[in-house]
Amino acid sequence: MKGVTIVDHPLVQHKLTIMRKRDTSTKSFRQLLKEIGGLICYEVTRDLPLEKVEIETPMTTMMAPQLAGKKLVLAPILRSGVGMLDGMLELVPAARVAHIGLYRDPVTLNCVEYYFKAPVDIAEREVIVVDPMLATANTAIAAVDRLMEAGAKSIRMACLLASPEGISKFQGHHPKVHIWTAAIDERLNDHGYIIPGLGDAGDRMYGTR
Ligand code: URA
Repeated sequence: MKGVTIVDHPLVQHKLTIMRKRDTSTKSFRQLLKEIGGLICYEVTRDLPLEKVEIETPMTTMMAPQLAGKKLVLAPILRSGVGMLDGMLELVPAARVAHIGLYRDPVTLNCVEYYFKAPVDIAEREVIVVDPMLATANTAIAAVDRLMEAGAKSIRMACLLASPEGISKFQGHHPKVHIWTAAIDERLNDHGYIIPGLGDAGDRMYGTR
């Protein structure tokens, strides 16, 4: 599918299967989400540019590659995006973090922002929006809108599961934002949940239901 990369690595697929199971504990779910966050981050950053620099090994000098491009901002959407964040920060410890708090107004169904804090130099950075579930895509679209309003120019979207409806809606609004996901599930149900999915990622991660 254009604009979407499926992270089909066997470790990711195996961990996702455990996360989907109804009986998986809160502790395991949280641990797996963190681990998958790191593995997905590995794929999302695969094309970051490198430059050769001269270094000295204990044996000799050599030209060795190091990251050359823009620095990163990881932008988790509260609350379940935070579940992938630590795994990503383990890989990219110097990344900055932008927290985005959005909820859906039960009457208007519009996204309402309740928290937003991003690095001031976001325009010079590559931004990775982090949300495990790209379901209706309403919050992901609003998050990207908000990051662009704050100055972000180059944005990627990292999730764990996506719905076909969410992908097409997201791409309708933000065609230039590439999506990475471990799977595209069958459909959304009438309540905006992904089927077969894994349930409510935030509740499963924090044990709130
Ligand atoms: N958010 C979730 O946590 N799960 C879904 O299936 C959809 C949105």
